[in-house]
Amino acid sequence: MTRVYNFSPGPAALPEAVLRQAADEMLDWHGSGMSVMEMSHRGPEFMGIHAEAEDLLRELMAIPSNYKVLFMQGGAIGENAIVPMNLIGRTGRADFVHTGEWSRRTIAEAAKYGRAQVAASAEAGGFRSVPPRDTWQLDAGAAYVHICSNETIGGVQYHWLPDTGDVPLVADMSSDILSRPLDVSRFGLIYGGAQKNVGPSGVTLVIVREDLLGHALPITPAAFDYTLQAENDSMYNTPPTYAIYIVGLVLKHLKAQGGLAAMEEHNRAKARLLYDFLDGSRYFRNEVAPADRSLMNVPFHLRDSARDAEFLAGAKARGLVQLKGHRLVGGMRASIYNAMSLEGVQALVAYLQDFERAHA
Ligand SMILES: Cc1ncc(COP(=O)(O)O)c(C=O)c1O
Repeated sequence: MTRVYNFSPGPAALPEAVLRQAADEMLDWHGSGMSVMEMSHRGPEFMGIHAEAEDLLRELMAIPSNYKVLFMQGGAIGENAIVPMNLIGRTGRADFVHTGEWSRRTIAEAAKYGRAQVAASAEAGGFRSVPPRDTWQLDAGAAYVHICSNETIGGVQYHWLPDTGDVPLVADMSSDILSRPLDVSRFGLIYGGAQKNVGPSGVTLVIVREDLLGHALPITPAAFDYTLQAENDSMYNTPPTYAIYIVGLVLKHLKAQGGLAAMEEHNRAKARLLYDFLDGSRYFRNEVAPADRSLMNVPFHLRDSARDAEFLAGAKARGLVQLKGHRLVGGMRASIYNAMSLEGVQALVAYLQDFERAHA
């Protein structure tokens, strides 16, 4: 068996140790005689798996006790509707910082449920940076301020936490949750699909401050009502049990590796290697403002885009896969989440060097 270096933006690479453990436990989880997939979500085995996953997330992220952790479904695009349905009702309007495609979609969806106000936008600069905080036009009466902490497509990431005063800060962290330590107490709500840094697709993490519950619009479907889900330990409806089990294994693995501080160091080392190469290259380039470059998703272009297909084929031949950039940005994108090894990025840089030597 050969495992490739998988640079997919998501669903993305998972730690091999986790996949092996899941394979070992596939037919008989801990002597239960059942696969986790076959367990009742209300049985003692799965209740234990679920509780352990939540406890590990709380421990790793140091989530304060006045926050609820929910395992939801519908992904981050689902949350683009679920968040406003639950939160915007307090005042009827919310502020958004527009940093790229994922924030654009968040804004468009929220506008169905209330007034979606753009407090700042990076559009004029082609979405290559985060608008500085002193340019944001915030409304003190907004129900929340929404940011996307890491624009997966554009490769733009916040490296600072905005102060939004008494207005709760809400973040789509789909592509950088658990990649570095975070002060959760600075947020009203954090959400993210699991399929980049945390596990398989199918489960969405929601971390919500308790005082924000209780304002759902009357049209909110019961399964998407945070208060109902919080009251029912995320089991108002059947949760995505197998995905939650894998999330638990990933979290255990993360803890064993030293937790989020160790992850940040690992992620910085990988990103530095790649950006340093790109900055020194005459053939490849990354166009994001250096201070706002993502440690998770590194888009880059070849000087000669006619060679894109050749580049991808050569990469595949070396076991470097899923490097094609998003169609909105073109070029290439290397997604280097927690599970990507330093060796993987070294192999990518070695290939980039060889390709440049051959074609520059
Ligand atoms: C930052 C961000 N937000 C939202 C989404 C959409 O997530 P999903 O497809 O899980 O709904 C993605 C997926 O790539 C993402 O990267």
